[in-house]
Order: sequence, then structure tokens, then C-alpha cells
Amino acid sequence: MTVERLAFRNFRNLAEDAIEPAPGVNVIYGENAQGKTNLLEAAWLFTGGHSFRGTKDAELPRLEDGKNAAEAALSMRIFSEGRAQELRLLIQNGRRSSTINGVEKKTGSALVGKFCAVIFSPEHLLLVKEGPARRRAFLDGALCQMKPSFARTLSHYTRALLQRNTLLKDAVRHPELLDTLEIWNERLVLFGVDVMLERIGFCRLLHPKAKDVYAGIAKGREALSLGYAPFDGADTKEALQAQFREALEAAEKTDIRAGFTSVGPHRDDLDIRIDGLSARTYGSQGQQRSIVLALKLAEADVLFGATGERPVILLDDVMSELDASRQDYLLNHIDGRQVFLTCCDPQAVRPMKEGKRFRVENGRIRETAVEKRE
Ligand SMILES: Nc1ncnc2c1ncn2[C@@H]1O[C@H](COP(=O)(O)OP(=O)(O)OP(=O)(O)O)[C@@H](O)[C@H]1O
Ligand SMILES: [Mg+2]
Repeated sequence: MTVERLAFRNFRNLAEDAIEPAPGVNVIYGENAQGKTNLLEAAWLFTGGHSFRGTKDAELPRLEDGKNAAEAALSMRIFSEGRAQELRLLIQNGRRSSTINGVEKKTGSALVGKFCAVIFSPEHLLLVKEGPARRRAFLDGALCQMKPSFARTLSHYTRALLQRNTLLKDAVRHPELLDTLEIWNERLVLFGVDVMLERIGFCRLLHPKAKDVYAGIAKGREALSLGYAPFDGADTKEALQAQFREALEAAEKTDIRAGFTSVGPHRDDLDIRIDGLSARTYGSQGQQRSIVLALKLAEADVLFGATGERPVILLDDVMSELDASRQDYLLNHIDGRQVFLTCCDPQAVRPMKEGKRFRVENGRIRETAVEKRE
């Protein structure tokens, strides 16, 4: 899908205006605090998701004299499902409503599935650097977009886990409760393996795509590999169940002492390696940035495979720390996808074959000429 037009009124610091992006790469540039990220955010809100910066809806309308405007209005024309479609989003008194092709909807979440996008913002770098929770959230978030039933699978597991943990805590005073531990192990295995299988399946779809994108970004100098840890490798559901059951039994004494369950999908991780070494421990800043990019672009490809529509790619501040050849890949070798990327210095951005550039200055946006590459 592509954004053909994006218009805004009273949205953050953006002046009332509209842009008509190119179907390929769109570079949004300007100095700090001018409104570049605000523009990406305006597009992102059409996914139906929350602000990726954690801002409350009530704070999105334009601030004037210390007060937020009564409403912010956004509209977007997209080309999707073989035709042009008109989407509108109104944020009023902290509540959202939307219009899809002229039909009014009471909520903003009615837009979910209409507009699909993948966002990379600087805080996503924590995906590689921080602990496993963010990586599990990345897998689960993508799975929920692809398969709405996954959220249910996950909540069945979480409930079983909570009950097992309660039993482990109560067992200090009532050791006889441990007689029922095996029953809870079985429930955990039953639901946990469903979660693991979905995540492993997604990782297997993601892996070859992320590997290809990474090879493109790094010009084949380094190789990315992904794995679901520690339970990858088991090829059948039964084998995975046996592995998980064994791990639970092996950790039983520790779990009873600690009062919680130390193995299972709530502790699993997406293992990311560059040339066989852990990216979290050994990756350079530029490598970590490239990895997150590869994961996001690959996620977009997997979503495309599942839905038949290519998500729009929103890249906030991705250029810094990328060397010339990595930038060149982003600007000239992402075929068939619409990309919006923000940066401060347009000179630092390598020349593009095609696409558009927009300069943002104090909330005003204007299209500027692209110096063509020979
Ligand atoms: N509700 C609002 N009303 C008016 N202005 C706002 C509102 N929310 C944020 N701003 C202003 O928008 C500006 C920040 O815009 P944005 O985050 O898009 O900057 P940027 O161009 O991405 O900068 P950087 O290069 O530093 O990332 C700030 O000056 C901020 O005060
Ligand atoms: Mg910004």
C-alpha cells in the first residue's frame, strides 16, 4: 500500500497543510524540533496504534498558550486493495473517531488493518541492547498483527503461569500443594508450546528475510542469524512438549525456592547474532541499528506474505551512525515499498535515484528538488 496524500490540521506543531509523497522513498529533513517526527507520527496513527512516543491522545492537538486545541484532524488517501481509499482521524477531547471512505466510525481502532505500517524510532534500538522482554514483545506484536487469535493463545498461557506461580508461593506454608504441581506443569506445557510454536514459526519466516536485508545493508560483509532460544530445534509439537516438560522438571527445585517459574515462553528470547557472536554483547552501534532495521523491514515482508499488502515503512532518525553504503542501500535498494525517513542533514543523505524530499521548518513543510543520481 502507499500513502498518496497526508493532510493535517492542529496536529502537534504542524501548520495546516498536506503532502503528496512519492510511492518510493520520501526523505523528511530539517533541524531538530521542527516537526519531522510529528509528521511520521501523523501517518502512524492511521494504523490505529498509540503514539510510538507514548504521548496521550489529549496531548496531540496543537498547544497554544499552554492549552491544547479542541481537536486535531488528520486525513490520508491511500492506495490499497487495488483502489484509492480515504481515511480520516479526529482527535477530540482525548478521544479518537475515524471515517473510512466516507463512513463514520465511533472509534479510532476501526482503522486497524486498513493502514499497515512498520515504525523504526530511536527507542527501538533497545530491541537489541536491552533484555529479552523487548524482543519477545517484538515477536508477539508482529504475531498479533498477523494473527488476531495469537493474543488469546498468549493469555491462556499467562493465566496458567500466574496460577503455577501462586502455587509455588503458597507451597512455603502448605507444602502439600506441591502434590498438584505436575498438573500445573502439564497446563503450562499445553499452552506454552502453542506460544512457542507460533513464535518459532514467525522466526523461521523472519530469518531468511532479515538475513537478506542485513546482507544488503552490510554489503555482505557480515552475516545475521536469528534463533528462538532456548527451545528452537524441536521439529514436532511432541518433541517441543517433551523439551519444555524436561526443562520445567529440571528447574523444579529452583522454582520452589524462588517462588516463581524460571523457564518457559515468558523467559524465552530472540537470539540475534552477527557472524556467530551475540549482537547484544558484541554489536557496534551501527551494527545494532542495522539489525533493528533488518528486523523491521523483514517484519514488513512477513506481514506482506500474510496479508498481501506491503506495509509502509516509517524510519525516524535512522541515518545517523550508518556508513555511506548502508545509507545507499536504504535509499536506493528497497524496492516496491514506500518509505518515509527523517534526518537532520540532507547533505549527509546519499543521492537518491528517485523519490521526494520534504523540508520541515518550524512546523511548515515544503517539497524540495531531489539531486538525481547518475
Ligand atoms: N501538541 C503540540 N503542540 C504544539 N507543538 C508541539 C506539540 N507537541 C510537540 N510539539 C513541538 O513539536 C516539536 C518537536 O517536533 P518533532 O519531535 O517532530 O521534532 P523533529 O523535527 O523530529 O526533531 P529532532 O530532529 O530533534 O528529532 C517541539 O518543538 C515540540 O515542542
Ligand atoms: Mg525527531
